[in-house]
Amino acid sequence: MIFTRTNALKGEITVPGDKSISHRSIMFGALAEGTTRVTNFLRGADCLSTIDCFRKLGIDIEDLDSEILIHGKGLHGLTAPSSMLDVGNSGTTTRLISGILAGQRFTTELNGDESIQSRPMKRIMEPLTLMGADITSIRDNGCAPLRIHGQKLHGIAYTSKVASAQVKSCILLAGLYADGTTSVTEPYLSRNHTEIMLTHFGADITSKGTTATVTPGKDLHAQEIIVPGDISSAAYFIAAALMVPDSEILIKNVGINPTRDGLLRVCQDMGADITLLNENYGNGEPTADLLVRHSELHGVTVGGSVIPTLIDELPVVAALACFARGTTVIRDAQELKVKESNRIDVMVNNLRAMGAHIEGTDDGMIIEGGYPLHGAIIDSHLDHRIAMTFAITALASDGETSIKGADCVKISYPGFYEDLTRLAK
Ligand code: S3P
Repeated sequence: MIFTRTNALKGEITVPGDKSISHRSIMFGALAEGTTRVTNFLRGADCLSTIDCFRKLGIDIEDLDSEILIHGKGLHGLTAPSSMLDVGNSGTTTRLISGILAGQRFTTELNGDESIQSRPMKRIMEPLTLMGADITSIRDNGCAPLRIHGQKLHGIAYTSKVASAQVKSCILLAGLYADGTTSVTEPYLSRNHTEIMLTHFGADITSKGTTATVTPGKDLHAQEIIVPGDISSAAYFIAAALMVPDSEILIKNVGINPTRDGLLRVCQDMGADITLLNENYGNGEPTADLLVRHSELHGVTVGGSVIPTLIDELPVVAALACFARGTTVIRDAQELKVKESNRIDVMVNNLRAMGAHIEGTDDGMIIEGGYPLHGAIIDSHLDHRIAMTFAITALASDGETSIKGADCVKISYPGFYEDLTRLAK
């Protein structure tokens, strides 16, 4: 696909539902008693993988146009699948479902695409094994495919080396099946959608600082869930409006949970004109409309506790930094290397191809802003967030940018190019 410079972005947009919350709505709905109704569910390929896995585990899930209905069977209602579960490209599906499967009375095997087969799973295998789980990497390389023989589990107090909501959620979900309390402490607080949503479903979960604790024994009950717009999808429009002169856009109903809103804080630190309107609160998840106007930006240092709150938005921060005066340093972001692609290498190589002054480091990137970018051939490495980042960067760059594998955006935002074209006409 080819992208070129655009005039100002103008107008209103509603981005699709949050990916993390959509995944969890299916999983927790499946484990609850009764029918959970989900509106504004994200029908991206990742969340469809989660639906497919739970159907194979015996859960009836209806996809009506206006909502998804999950006919939950309670904590002990899943049944053995007749074939291997296919998690597709989804790390969230793989890691969270593993926590659930560890405590079942049957054996499951799961696998996904090439990217999933190289993503680290030891980070969940270690704590689950400490809980008494029997989980193995079938090729013995610490990655999927995985085989999980369900076992009786016991509670643990686990200190995680990484701030990862996928690791935390995996352990908390296994904790629902353990014989005592389970807690997870992480170096910095990662997104807390699991804690918020499981509490709504009736689980006994407490959070204190960076420790989340689950005490088993409570049944889960079906809920009505309205999924807020995904701030990780809004990020591309925020950045595009900031980069392209004279832009002014309104992004409606975006989830602004403080464990997810780091991009807003970093952009504002860079001098961005972003106003929050219509702040609201539903299902324990805050939302707002975001009014974003083109702004002159300056470089900043991004590191420490803010990193987990914008981990998926760091490619966008790197691109924005090219349009900012001065130096931007991204540090403490080693996790970027183990996402859908190695996002440090892929961002450095692709932004350099467009003329950016950027260096990769062990835990991030250093970008010298203010050098005009030009079109290039961009390899998305089939990473949805890379494809979307370069589609918007091209709108503020000279010449033509061609993105290889551009349709991988279907993972999290199937209508992305249509929405972008509407705003940037
Ligand atoms: C997610 C957590 C993050 C994020 C991913 C979704 C989740 O991963 O990058 O896109 O839904 O829990 P980590 O927990 O591995 O950082």
